[in-house]
Amino acid sequence: MPNEVQRGLEDVVALESRICFIDGREGRLIYRGYDIRDLTAHATFEEVAYLLWYGRLPTASRLAELHQRLVALRAVPPELLRAIDTLPASASPMDVLRTAVSALAIYEPQHAGPGPNSIGGAQHLTAALPTILGTFHRRRAHLPPIEARPHLSHAAYLVYALLDREPTPLEAQAVDVALMLHADHDLNASTFAARVTASTLSDLYSAVTSAIGALKGPLHGGANERVMELLEQIGTVDRAEEVVRAKLAHHERIMGFGHRVYKVEDPRATILREWSRRLGEAKGNLRYYELLQKVVEVVHREKGLYPNLDLYSGSIYTLLGVPSDLFTPVFATSRVVGWTAHVLEEYDDLRLIRPVSQYVGPTDLVWVPPEQRS
Ligand code: COA
Repeated sequence: MPNEVQRGLEDVVALESRICFIDGREGRLIYRGYDIRDLTAHATFEEVAYLLWYGRLPTASRLAELHQRLVALRAVPPELLRAIDTLPASASPMDVLRTAVSALAIYEPQHAGPGPNSIGGAQHLTAALPTILGTFHRRRAHLPPIEARPHLSHAAYLVYALLDREPTPLEAQAVDVALMLHADHDLNASTFAARVTASTLSDLYSAVTSAIGALKGPLHGGANERVMELLEQIGTVDRAEEVVRAKLAHHERIMGFGHRVYKVEDPRATILREWSRRLGEAKGNLRYYELLQKVVEVVHREKGLYPNLDLYSGSIYTLLGVPSDLFTPVFATSRVVGWTAHVLEEYDDLRLIRPVSQYVGPTDLVWVPPEQRS
């Protein structure tokens, strides 16, 4: 029986998995045996989704089939669209996403139960999240309703669903790379939340609802939105040093830096930095890239911390025109693949996840009636 508390379960090995390997010392991220650098240089988000779900890369015909299936599954039940329409425009898009995913289970009982049919739910959730987000965002932004657009890849459809315009090839590739990089990350907090829920033999939609709740927090998915707030606060490169040092002096965390597992630079940050620069150059706007580079220099010098994925993703979405409160939901539209791959793995090798705490409270108190209590 272990008797030492590992706060935050740091370095605790909770289960065996074949999905994702993070080498925190070498700065490598591996999906099902493939290095993320290789995948983002050559593959697409759809290929990565297939790889994470099925454990191998798809043949050309399987890939075409998956594209067709995801396109067909983009539609969500009209009752759910009407329910989204009743939510206030001021709602947080993460709350909308969590609510809609939870509600989807009611309309799709065939995929809800744990078992082989869960792959259908995994694919519908992946295909439908951009539609759900787009439906909500377009209403509050007074944009026209979404059309099917079957020729669009998942990444391009996401941009179209949110912004009512199809991306340029470079923009589509930048989003595709960002989605591949966000697709899985071993037992991060939201994936663990999904697996804990699935381990009770609860359904896929409940597991993903738990995961969305966990992703919402600023220490997890919410960091990229805060990075852009920091850049706005800094304003110009010459102010970066002063603003960052003042925050560190007040023991504030600089969002987009540090990581529980990586002891060197997060390899996803290295790849996205290049895309932040490429997109900035194409749009004639290198302001965010240059500000970020200055912040990286100061934080590394002052705290020895390296950037993580969230440092650069916000700059890419902002250059595309995506509002900052959609950054974390966009993260969810990709991580849903990892969550569901882990849930399927959990169902295959089920063991109720139920750790213990080290009780440090009293054990000998005696009950007294309310009127006798002080
Ligand atoms: N800014 C400033 N200091 C930071 C920091 C940051 N972003 N991240 C960690 N540190 C410091 C802590 O203050 C602590 O310093 P101390 O030992 O002097 O108290 C030390 O580094 C270790 O931090 P700790 O909180 O124990 O590390 P962790 O493994 O629990 O935290 C994160 C990992 C990701 C939660 C943390 O780095 C963080 O809060 N980062 C900002 C949020 C973020 O970018 N999240 C996205 C993750 S992909």
